[in-house]
Amino acid sequence: MSDISFDGRVAVVTGAGGGLGRTYALELARRGAAVVVNDLGGSVKGEGGDHTAAQKVVDEIKAAGGDAAPNFDSVSTPEGGAAIVQTAIDTFGKVDIVVNNAGFLRDKSFLKLTWDDLDAVLDVHLKAAFYVSQPAFANMKENGYGRFVFTASNATFGNFGQTNYSAAKMGLVGLSNTIAVEGARAGILSNVIMPVAKTRMTEELLGEFANYLAPELVTPMVTYLCSEACTTTHGAYSAAGGRYAAVKWTLGEGWFAGSGNTPTAEEIQAHLDEINDMSGAIVPQSTTDEIMALAAKFQPAS
Ligand SMILES: NC(=O)c1ccc[n+]([C@@H]2O[C@H](COP(=O)([O-])OP(=O)(O)OC[C@H]3O[C@@H](n4cnc5c(N)ncnc54)[C@H](O)[C@@H]3O)[C@@H](O)[C@H]2O)c1
Repeated sequence: MSDISFDGRVAVVTGAGGGLGRTYALELARRGAAVVVNDLGGSVKGEGGDHTAAQKVVDEIKAAGGDAAPNFDSVSTPEGGAAIVQTAIDTFGKVDIVVNNAGFLRDKSFLKLTWDDLDAVLDVHLKAAFYVSQPAFANMKENGYGRFVFTASNATFGNFGQTNYSAAKMGLVGLSNTIAVEGARAGILSNVIMPVAKTRMTEELLGEFANYLAPELVTPMVTYLCSEACTTTHGAYSAAGGRYAAVKWTLGEGWFAGSGNTPTAEEIQAHLDEINDMSGAIVPQSTTDEIMALAAKFQPAS
């Protein structure tokens, strides 16, 4: 197995001034990528701003003999997203890789959630990924090559106090899956990472267990997904504490009421076990896969 190299590749890592993003930027640069280190700075709740975080990581990369440029724009606006990608094009001539990683939390139980908390979290996680990825996709399409990694979370399984965050993160799964479909012909692969790691965002929440969850244990999976060697697209991967696992959006075989039959609610109740049964489930790679599976139910049995 040959070494995975990023020589000649240009990467954008958002929110790379600290935490997980910093480890991705350092590793991509160590393996030869020119890296745009984006970070607005600011607190774990997204308040304030401080250029030193991104600049320090750039300095660290350069001190190790790598190539990097800082960017201090916010991912949360269309102008910010465009400026981040433009930094890569102006400085290094193109963009091959985007790791959408920046973000912060505004946790509140559902009834206490304010619309400000909702907007801020949707903006920095979900809408930001559109703002950064659309201009990057345009450049990748011209070059016939691209790698996207979107950062979701195990909050997508449901987590108390994180309605805004879990909805934003689940939205990223849909975004990545559709970019995978639209990018396939242009050599653009798109995947989702679901990290668990000790960073300022999580160390209080995770308690002592955090000590087993170094951010560097997430980095190899992200590095692989960013690489030319990557053969997977439309995927989602949990990476935590040295365990790497696929997370699948699956469709069960289900129960078919029969062509032309409209079942009653009581029949749904009666067939709930079959409806919930996941043996024989498929992992649709696009809408077409579900429609094909559905259409097959309407074929007369041979
Ligand atoms: N740490 C975990 O266990 C965990 C779990 C699930 C998901 N995540 C996700 O991983 C990503 C990285 O989180 P982390 O744990 O490294 O946290 P972190 O707070 O250390 O890093 C997030 C970075 O994003 C930057 N940032 C915030 N708002 C920004 C903006 N508008 N524009 C540009 N940069 C901005 C911050 O300054 C910070 O450096 C986030 O998307 C987070 O939701 C982390």
